[in-house]
Amino acid sequence: APGSPALTPPMGWNSWNSFGCGITEAQVRQAADAMVSSGMRDAGYQYVVVDDCWFDPNRDAQGNLRAHPTKFPSGMKALGDYLHARGLKFGIYQAPLEKTCAQGGGTFPGATGSLGHEYQDARTFASWGVDYLKYDWCSGSGTRDEQIARFSIMRDALRSTGRPIVYSINSNSFHAPTGDKYDWGDVADLWRTTEDLLDIWQSNSVNSYPMGVTNVLDVTAPLAAQTGPGNWNDPDMLVAGRPGLTLTESRSHFALWALMAAPLMAGNDLRTMSPEISALLRNQRLIAVNQDRLGIGGRRVRDDGNTEVFAKPLSDGSVAVGLFNRGSGTTTISTTATQIGLSGDSFTLADLWTGATSGSSGQISASVPAHGVAVFRVSGGSQIPNTTARLRGAGANRC
Ligand code: DGJ
Repeated sequence: APGSPALTPPMGWNSWNSFGCGITEAQVRQAADAMVSSGMRDAGYQYVVVDDCWFDPNRDAQGNLRAHPTKFPSGMKALGDYLHARGLKFGIYQAPLEKTCAQGGGTFPGATGSLGHEYQDARTFASWGVDYLKYDWCSGSGTRDEQIARFSIMRDALRSTGRPIVYSINSNSFHAPTGDKYDWGDVADLWRTTEDLLDIWQSNSVNSYPMGVTNVLDVTAPLAAQTGPGNWNDPDMLVAGRPGLTLTESRSHFALWALMAAPLMAGNDLRTMSPEISALLRNQRLIAVNQDRLGIGGRRVRDDGNTEVFAKPLSDGSVAVGLFNRGSGTTTISTTATQIGLSGDSFTLADLWTGATSGSSGQISASVPAHGVAVFRVSGGSQIPNTTARLRGAGANRC
């Protein structure tokens, strides 16, 4: 949105996937400590986001939000201080209606949503040192116009604090089962495109809860044109390292999210992750692709059913390419420099998994395992303007 502090896709960790409504202050601090000790902070992860169920079920006599007295006994200002002292940033969760999702679903008492309290709550967040707000529409009702109005009030409330607070919205909870294709670029800095992503490779529900990695990819990839600095499609937190995915699937998920210029919000338990998952989340070559300053969302430039090619033009003139195998056996996937939007006679391919480089006259080809992604950075040619131009704005639903 205008004035966005998120000029590259936000990177961090969110409590929901691993801790749900049980999240406590101690667990958040441990996650922050693990973010530092694992090297994730130094690899670029910043935001530690406390999702639903951090609050007291009752506001105080003045209507102010406060921390849950036993789950977050030190209070939210102290938690923000703890994160800031470690070079991290503080994210928090709220909802634009009467209740948060957990309150609406009856798993947590009270009705402390921000409806009617938007400016008060934004001031509270700023006073606690909050740097990121996740704002979650937790109702099956509400028109698009009502959503735009309510989400815009909190945008204005956050901006009015004078504190740079990244604004992350979700219009989907119980609401938009087919995925949200609306371009929220005027309203928010990032916006969820689907219902929740679980650690499932492919879900039979396709477009409703629970979504799998390929389901979310299929809704979000066609929306690449509306992604860019300060405006990010959000295909949900990462499920890499969660028990339902194989290591190959976690790697593909991370590579595809990097290519889509998606926010990289880890959702696994950072305290117990394997060395392989830690290394995956810290892959500097893929993070550089994700964080490229042009902020172009990778596009699917070729679709042969079980095999697909994604391309993401980068600011140094190179193009990142992913060769994705959805099938159940190893297969060779091929594309060309021209197909990914590069002209020229000779290219260098850097394998973003291994770092190894090789020369090419334009053919890009790899043997890719089932559910795997081969990913390269292709340099040495020139980006072909009409295939690499950003399409943001063209055909978008705003003027
Ligand atoms: C629904 C959202 O999609 C999830 O990411 C999480 O924030 C829950 N609500 C919390 O109740």
